[in-house]
Amino acid sequence: MSRARRQILGTFLGSVLFLLFYLHYHANNDHHPLSQSTSSPIAAAQSDDNQSSNDLPKKESLWKQLPVRYPVLEVQQVPVKSRTFPKLQSTDHEIPKPALQHQMTRQAAVKERFERCWKSHQSHAWAADGLMPLSGLPTNDRGGWGARILESLDTLWIMEMYEEFEAAVTAVTQIDFDVTNAPELNTLDVNIRLLGGLLAAYDLSNDQRLLTKCVELGDMLYAAFDTPNRMPIIHWNSHKASRREEQLAEEKVLAAELGSFTLEFTRLSQITGDSKYFDAAQRVLDLFDRQYGSTKLPGLWSVYVNARAESFDGDEYAIGAMGNSFYKTLPQAYALNGGQMPVNRRMYERFTFAAAGHNLFRPMNPDEEDILLLGTVHAFVTQNGKPRTHLQSQVHYQSCFAGGLFALGGALFGLPAHKRIAHKLVDGCIWAHEAMSQGIMPKVFDAVPCASQLHCPWNEWHWKQEAWKKANSLKIEGISDMNIDTFIKDHHLPKGFIDIPDTISELRPEVIESIFVLYRVTGREDLLDKAWELFESLNNVSATKYGNAAIVDVTFESKAPILSDSIENFWMSETLRYFYLIFGASDQISLDDFVFNAAGHPLRRPRPS
Ligand SMILES: *[C@@H]1O[C@H](CO)[C@@H](O)[C@H](O)[C@H]1NC(C)=O
Ligand SMILES: *[C@@H]1O[C@H](CO)[C@@H](O)[C@H](O)[C@H]1NC(C)=O
Repeated sequence: MSRARRQILGTFLGSVLFLLFYLHYHANNDHHPLSQSTSSPIAAAQSDDNQSSNDLPKKESLWKQLPVRYPVLEVQQVPVKSRTFPKLQSTDHEIPKPALQHQMTRQAAVKERFERCWKSHQSHAWAADGLMPLSGLPTNDRGGWGARILESLDTLWIMEMYEEFEAAVTAVTQIDFDVTNAPELNTLDVNIRLLGGLLAAYDLSNDQRLLTKCVELGDMLYAAFDTPNRMPIIHWNSHKASRREEQLAEEKVLAAELGSFTLEFTRLSQITGDSKYFDAAQRVLDLFDRQYGSTKLPGLWSVYVNARAESFDGDEYAIGAMGNSFYKTLPQAYALNGGQMPVNRRMYERFTFAAAGHNLFRPMNPDEEDILLLGTVHAFVTQNGKPRTHLQSQVHYQSCFAGGLFALGGALFGLPAHKRIAHKLVDGCIWAHEAMSQGIMPKVFDAVPCASQLHCPWNEWHWKQEAWKKANSLKIEGISDMNIDTFIKDHHLPKGFIDIPDTISELRPEVIESIFVLYRVTGREDLLDKAWELFESLNNVSATKYGNAAIVDVTFESKAPILSDSIENFWMSETLRYFYLIFGASDQISLDDFVFNAAGHPLRRPRPS
């Protein structure tokens, strides 16, 4: 090739590449029909002018006006009356006065922590979605509407921080849900965290300004259900939806994500009198119910499902890591529906039966404590066509929600066996915390299951053997030159743990959530001390100048932990709230008046008729 031809070709290729880049860039930056703000909508609203939004002529939200492409022919009516339930909270325990004082001191310490985090957020990241706990910088990766404010409203009310609550509500009234900086929204996240937060704040305060915002956000989410089979889109491009482009349900989506709209949509229908939200969520739940018998593990739904083809038969069955938000809501939905929807109860009974038979296991531990953990089940079909299951005894922090679930289900449906399972599950997660050098359970670890739940003697040789097998299967570098004792020491494996694939602690809520529910249901008093130890363990290590930070490696033994410059909003809006409530009076958000949604927001149950 001559030099001139090479130059021409080079220029040509360069232009093509530029054009491709240009097209790609624009394809990935959908522009909103109205506007797409890069800064936060709250900040934008504040800087526009200083008129209060109430004085402005009321503009109808984009989502309310949007025509429905696939309308519903018959809307199922939301139940608004409740049948009489047995009392869920234990009434036969009275904490003596001096002990009560002690718990109030603890509660005050939790509140102080929350206040500290809130003040930092207020001064460094007010209208932002979150605040980085080491650098003090704002983050905006959740739609840009000020997620932390939305998620904290109910906590502010519960902790009686009414001035802060009022400031937060004022900020919330200025949010414009028609505008987002996110190319894609996760509708599950928006639903359980943001709509759940708004609904809970409304239920507690009765503030009509919040009701308006609930409807605006609910109408936006409702547009994600406008698909041919009315299954919602989870990874949702709201810009396309607002342009009325054709939308289809996804072919690969987490079952938990698909099924987690029930509580919020039911409550929204109850408080607005418009059943369309309830109807939309109930269609999804009915589809889950119809899948019974057609999955490899009847009663459970595979982790990933095809929402477009309505096929739920995968190979992996977990109710922990990637399934908790859905399973957790079934007994709550039954209570919120006033016991009028038997489908919720049926699904709860079927899945707990399957989970108890396949996912629960008793981990071998040095004190031979009679405890349970929740693992993942892989289901497959053998060559001669027989269905088989294999238990993976790997425990994810999220799976610790199960103790609270069995406790609540046991109380709601009068199943003493479920309460017994709940005690063992809660004790299992407490064991996993206490076994660690800092008292902090890692995000993921592997344990040794005993063959029988009845008899589980400690066998040190067997434990080491299993750890060694695991290390070899993972092909850990230098393993051939090591002996097992060195390996265990180097990897800080406590007795009973054979691997810690993820050493982080995100300060997640599931363990304290389950301790809280079990305490309220049974009144078991040692749980208060366990909760306090847990709070101190987490807070002592994770506190920073701007709040609290995720702990990168909880296996450390030296004095200086490594912290991450990030913290999820659930630390403030779930973990701290459950700590606060457990040390308070039992009528503070009673389980007989409220259900907790998957993000820990309390929604008011209807009264018995
Ligand atoms: C904002 O409020 C101040 C004081 O009430 C007033 O003087 C000013 O004109 C207002 N600005 C706008 C843009 O409305
Ligand atoms: C946490 O710190 C407090 C105050 O320094 C101390 O009294 C307590 O023992 C610590 N708790 C844990 C579990 O580390």
